Amino acid sequence: MGDNVILVGFMGAGKSSVGRLLARRLGRCFVETDDMITAQEGRSIPDIFAARGEAHFRALEEETVRLLALKSGDVIATGGGLPCREGRPELLRAMGTVVWLRGEFDAVYERAQRAGARPMLAGRGRDEIEALYRAREPYYRQADLTVDTTDINPDQVVSKLLLLLRDRNAATLSPLGKPGSLSPLGRGQGEG
Ligand code: S3P
Repeated sequence: MGDNVILVGFMGAGKSSVGRLLARRLGRCFVETDDMITAQEGRSIPDIFAARGEAHFRALEEETVRLLALKSGDVIATGGGLPCREGRPELLRAMGTVVWLRGEFDAVYERAQRAGARPMLAGRGRDEIEALYRAREPYYRQADLTVDTTDINPDQVVSKLLLLLRDRNAATLSPLGKPGSLSPLGRGQGEG
């Protein structure tokens, strides 16, 4: 369905914290693709990587993308690699408003290392991770909206994002004043 808000961006961009806050402000459900995978597999993301490897994890992401198509009105945080496949950005945009939480590499790298167990960082040096970041940028860049998170906290990111979503919502109003199909705030739910 077309009215989700879908957060994309590199590890450490703040998708989980921003997504949780945004969902609360909008009175919507918050979903994380990594949680969907963890629940389905009955084990953590690091355990999935350790037991079955990255290729298996990417296949699970593929399946998750199919399940996302059933969602409507949710705030969805995607894993950092999920949008980075041929055709994915288009597929995600068909499901809602895609938002890139962008950050300068040094800032997101530092955050990614600090929080959470991330198998994609394990055994890779800074240069290798930066190459991955650069290779993924063209996919993230295809988002509908971009918020730079480099020097601001999740609360500030959410405030900026709410303004952008509101502008976009206004731009998609039909002549009758009804929210357009792409409207991310078009379900009469206030910010609380
Ligand atoms: C990954 C990012 C992780 C998780 C998995 C792979 C990646 O999610 O999906 O470890 O390839 O960048 P976060 O972006 O939430 O860390």
